[in-house]
Amino acid sequence: MLATLDALERVSDEALVRLRERIVATGHGPAVYDVTEAIAPHLFHALRLPLIRLALRRLRGPEWTLARLFVYDDVVSPFEWDLAAGPEWGPLGMECGLVRRDADGIRGNFHLVQTSGVWVFSDTSVTEADAVMGPGPTTLILERILPKEFPLEDGRQVRVLDLGSGAGTLSLVAAARGAAVVATDLNPRSLRFTALNARFNRLTLDLRAGDLTAPVRGEQFDLVLSQPPFVVRPAGTEHSLYMHGGARGDELALRLLQELPEVLAPDGQAAVLFDTPRLARRSLDHELRTLFSEVAVDRVLLQGPGIPSDYLSVGYAYEMTGTFGREFERTLEVYREHVEGLGAAHFDRALVLLRARPDADQYLAVELAVRQYPTAEALRSLWRAWDASTLDDERFGRLSLQLPTSARWVETRPKPVLESDPTCRLTFVGAAFQHELELPFSALLVYSALEKSETVEAAIDAYAGEIDSTRDEVRSEVLGFLRDSLRRGALEVR
Ligand SMILES: C[S@@+](CC[C@H](N)C(=O)[O-])C[C@H]1O[C@@H](n2cnc3c(N)ncnc32)[C@H](O)[C@@H]1O
Repeated sequence: MLATLDALERVSDEALVRLRERIVATGHGPAVYDVTEAIAPHLFHALRLPLIRLALRRLRGPEWTLARLFVYDDVVSPFEWDLAAGPEWGPLGMECGLVRRDADGIRGNFHLVQTSGVWVFSDTSVTEADAVMGPGPTTLILERILPKEFPLEDGRQVRVLDLGSGAGTLSLVAAARGAAVVATDLNPRSLRFTALNARFNRLTLDLRAGDLTAPVRGEQFDLVLSQPPFVVRPAGTEHSLYMHGGARGDELALRLLQELPEVLAPDGQAAVLFDTPRLARRSLDHELRTLFSEVAVDRVLLQGPGIPSDYLSVGYAYEMTGTFGREFERTLEVYREHVEGLGAAHFDRALVLLRARPDADQYLAVELAVRQYPTAEALRSLWRAWDASTLDDERFGRLSLQLPTSARWVETRPKPVLESDPTCRLTFVGAAFQHELELPFSALLVYSALEKSETVEAAIDAYAGEIDSTRDEVRSEVLGFLRDSLRRGALEVR
């Protein structure tokens, strides 16, 4: 059973602010998570929990007590609770159901964590169908692409839509950085958490209930963020609102992508994150091409390796049952067989980025294999490169282009035979957006000409000389290759 929010919602704004101040004063927050998150980081969360609790019980102090209560679902003594919560919130926390007493001591009824400067209440257990999820690793992928601040544009606030807001993490971060935010969710409990979190952080959000873009139809946004539920749902299992995206998992995300262009302002951008099964007979890129064949949006598909199906089945089964007993094993079997039936040994993680281009006469698309998803700055420079790539030949020829400083050229040969043609790969090490590109060996010659030349035109001359051709013979091919390189993040404007 999920904890009731009723009494906590009735607490005054002032008392909530005093709770926040009290928590901050204890030192609870990211410095505590730095310690706990370093404990067995590669184990499943459920398996790490006992180790983390063990470590925390050995540390005395209110910040650790709060971590045990509100992050790691441990029990603390009434004395520890009173010491951490202070004279007002010691009793008030019990009265309003922030914590409860059982035979073992005091337990938290909610999670409460700080991320990117905002505090977020959410549910502790996610096994119930309408449980509300707090910030997780996937939330942070979207958080990375929020700019550090949203300055006014033409005297007005940037409009952000957080679609499927959950506990409201992304909405809160965007509002704290200056955006005007609309948060929507199908789950009424999500909106209750988002409202509570807005009050707790003293931020203003516009909350709407409803399915995908229905609550904002007719409105337009500069930035839309969404992590729709994307977990596969085997037939006959209970529908969890925050987890399940359809039988294959990505159905809801694709329906959302189809609706999104309608709510994007001119030049407005959207980022949608979801998992998608890697299937021999289907490519997500192809599916997106069909979806957007007649829509005025630029599109980037960043696809990285997700988790093998076995691991996912274990993770889902635990999330659904909250145990490792018989019920877990039965649920695991159901998920494992379902995933097998789909034919997916692996799931990929996909971040689809859209940019509305109502006045442009061409719309660009690229698919990239990524290892790390982009930051706001990396994304801004990618779009800048895309704009440069569409300049007419004359202006394009005058550009000065370079490889990003993070680019590394890697050649591999099956045997130590220098005469054999190597396979070439461009990887971006330590960049704000790590990805890889397979390239033909001739690309090395073009990039090397570019490195030595002031402009694109001069590079074409140098390349033609290198391969004993004339500039007219190679010009259009090189221009096409350089435009494509800009769109793939392999080149930047100097
Ligand atoms: C995976 S959670 C993401 C929560 C939050 N955005 C984050 O990143 O932490 C997905 C959210 O989408 C909501 N949701 C599910 N189906 C929806 C729909 N059809 N329309 C709108 N929201 C939906 C769920 O209730 C849940 O809060």
